Amino acid sequence: MVPGKRRDRLPVVVAGHVDHGKSTLVGRLVHDTGNMPEGRVEAIRAMCARRGRPFEWAFLTDALQGERDRAVTIDAAHIRLAAPSRDYLLIDAPGHREFLRNAVTGAARAEAGLLVVDAAEGVREQSRRHAFLLRLLGIRQIVAAISKADRVGYARERIEEVGAAVGRCLEAAGLSARRWVPVSARDGGNVAAPSPRMAWFRGPTLLDALEELEPAPPPDGLPLRLPVQDVYRRGGRRVLVGRVETGALRAGDEVLLSPSRRTARIAGFEAWPGPPPFSARAGDSAAFALDPPLPVERGELVCDPARPPRVGDRLRARLFWLGDGPARAGARYVLKLNAREVVAALESVEAVIDMDDFARRPADRVERGAVAEAVLRTDAPTAFDPYEDNPRTGRFALAQGVRIVGGGALTVAAPGPAP
Ligand code: GTP
Ligand code: MG
Repeated sequence: MVPGKRRDRLPVVVAGHVDHGKSTLVGRLVHDTGNMPEGRVEAIRAMCARRGRPFEWAFLTDALQGERDRAVTIDAAHIRLAAPSRDYLLIDAPGHREFLRNAVTGAARAEAGLLVVDAAEGVREQSRRHAFLLRLLGIRQIVAAISKADRVGYARERIEEVGAAVGRCLEAAGLSARRWVPVSARDGGNVAAPSPRMAWFRGPTLLDALEELEPAPPPDGLPLRLPVQDVYRRGGRRVLVGRVETGALRAGDEVLLSPSRRTARIAGFEAWPGPPPFSARAGDSAAFALDPPLPVERGELVCDPARPPRVGDRLRARLFWLGDGPARAGARYVLKLNAREVVAALESVEAVIDMDDFARRPADRVERGAVAEAVLRTDAPTAFDPYEDNPRTGRFALAQGVRIVGGGALTVAAPGPAP
């Protein structure tokens, strides 16, 4: 591998209530930082004119035709943005409930969050829901944008009132905003350049607020976790293939296979074509043989024996429910955890989180779009890490047939007995 100068890249998930201006703000940010591909603005202008609609910055990022027709973001769009200090990957999550699906299926794996709140409408249900979800996803760094400042005439009093409400919303979700910044995506005010209409605002532009965020921490400090995706036979050897989620792996290392609780050494790496590497680190895909050549199946977790995962058949989880009907105790699903698939029953629903005040309320079922604390029981012992210990391996999805019906984060801290 040729060591190149790699620019830092910070993934930022864009969250907020439907229609609060997320996609428009992203489009404007891309444009005002000189990242817009040549001819794109003209193409959108022509398209809008053809359809007899006013110009929409959101169309620059809402890439799919279907989205243009409905003017709603349907899928998380990943937009690259080069800024002076680093690159950003803006994940423009849709404002409606599908945001949950993107979040739980991993489409929105981010280090920071940009919460967009309409200055005229203020904090709404999905602003709260998304704030809570950002917290559950382990995202600690938040910038809040008070959008559409033009709609309230750039009025300091109103904007400060919404800024304070956003602060309270984030605090209730266990987060705090690094900054809140007022912006008008329509007029380009305070996006990449300060707005003369908001001379009262002493803080940074949105771009500068993003530039203040901490870089993404390398996941190297976490213990080795490599979910085995596949096992091949190659020249009489059994070759395990997977991606290093966290930690690192060197030839000669002793590893623990979990949940089968066996140990072996890394006999050596394989590569085709090219010479095999001597090590693999977080983010790398690796192919390697074990000594002894134990039979291994897809779904085993290759781990650091000094810092093993937990193994069990009862998993406590924060569950986001996306199924059409409610989730009830006793129902069975396929749990997808790292590369493992195992049948799991929803053993119990302990509480549903009320999105108005984030309180836990006793419940026996989980409605579509709701978040619950629940216990899953798997048909076979399963290796897992609590999400707080390892955000890369502590996330799961639940499937019913080919559909993803839920997902979330594994937790361990058992809440006290119900009052
Ligand atoms: P979803 O993806 O559907 O959740 O919406 P969104 O949050 O991405 O909102 P979008 O950017 O699509 O904007 C929604 C509407 O608000 C559009 O009609 C925009 O033109 C309008 N809008 C966005 N930003 C501004 C702004 O700064 N000022 C004004 N006046 N309108 C804006
Ligand atoms: Mg959108």
